[in-house]
Amino acid sequence: MNAGKRLFGNELKYVKEVLETEFRSSKGSMMTSRLEAFFAEKFGTRFGIAFVNGTATMHAVLEAHGIGPGDEVIVPPLTMSATTFAVLQANATPVFADVEPDTFQISAASIRERITPNTKAIITVALYGLSPDMDPIMDLAREHDLFVLEDNAECFLGTYKGRKVGTLGHAASYSFQSSKHITSGEGGMVITDDPELADRVRKVQSLGYAGVGASKGKITKADIQDPGYERHVTMGWNYRMAELCSAVALGQMENIKELVGIRQKSAEMFAQAVAGSNWVVPQRTPDDCVHSYWTFVVKLEHPDHSWHTVRDALRANGGDGVYGAWQLTYLEPMFREMDLLRRERFISDENKARYAPGLCPVAEDLQPRLMQFKTNYWDLSRAEQQAEILARTIRELS
Ligand SMILES: Cc1ncc(COP(=O)(O)O)c(C=O)c1O
Repeated sequence: MNAGKRLFGNELKYVKEVLETEFRSSKGSMMTSRLEAFFAEKFGTRFGIAFVNGTATMHAVLEAHGIGPGDEVIVPPLTMSATTFAVLQANATPVFADVEPDTFQISAASIRERITPNTKAIITVALYGLSPDMDPIMDLAREHDLFVLEDNAECFLGTYKGRKVGTLGHAASYSFQSSKHITSGEGGMVITDDPELADRVRKVQSLGYAGVGASKGKITKADIQDPGYERHVTMGWNYRMAELCSAVALGQMENIKELVGIRQKSAEMFAQAVAGSNWVVPQRTPDDCVHSYWTFVVKLEHPDHSWHTVRDALRANGGDGVYGAWQLTYLEPMFREMDLLRRERFISDENKARYAPGLCPVAEDLQPRLMQFKTNYWDLSRAEQQAEILARTIRELS
């Protein structure tokens, strides 16, 4: 049982197993394969393919789907920039769609406006742990023959209209970076039901090996030993997850319900603290969604108090774990200066000109006013204390 700790399951036992088998599959070190199978089973998907992180996952899926120079991929600008980096890594063009003012999720109406003959895919992000409104997005995808990748780095066990987030698009990506619901320090996973896509994702994840496939991560020994063996049927990026990391992630996954539950309970305390305030407005969770609360986020609407005033008042009261939202990706210096490690040569002048203030007015209005509260309090009494500090600070500033 969890007693105020994050790594309370079989993590150490599995790490020991990997070390004792000296990383050799011949001695039974199959931790990554076990993690992949366990993860896929939890989500009820056919395939799970483990990665070094939750950015490589998305790059590989785009590559596997055949996305490249000249192709446009629609992404939200209000998210961790890895969503956009994956598009750039595939030499494609990120096109930014605006977000909803209450759920902060990518807006189907805005996506519709951004679709051009060059659009090939949409990456939705379950921002802060809540699903976007996926039905109208999937309708658009069907109408325009677009591929949909869910970036669920921040969402484990969330649901949308009773369905698991991660099974709504054509593939989904997860991150095991240290701030996420489950962690192995670094790591990631792709899940999908599509066998052909899974096979290509696996080949990109390895080094384009002939001998790997949707559910097979390693080349057979007899093949490697054969001097006539032709290994590489395509190019790959060598994005495989390390066995030691897989050991930790598997131990974490076995306790996923509890690890998510802790964040949901922390969020509930913060929600109570802000209830009734007319200037601290929490992210709206639609009735038909279960939020997994990677973080609890509010929009500040006080006419006089700035984000920094509120943060300073919280701090003065002993508040901790407060973050601002990321800058909108297209307003980062990399776009302003057009330094995309020479990928800028794949982006048309027309698209380049769009990376400027005014592109996504709702997101631009929201971003400076969002305040994120961490929810990973393995000791819930600390969450309770932080929620009380938030309630007191709101009273003082109202
Ligand atoms: C929404 C989102 N996408 C992608 C990532 C990238 O994951 P990673 O750090 O594992 O590459 C993160 C966080 O790190 C994220 O929050």
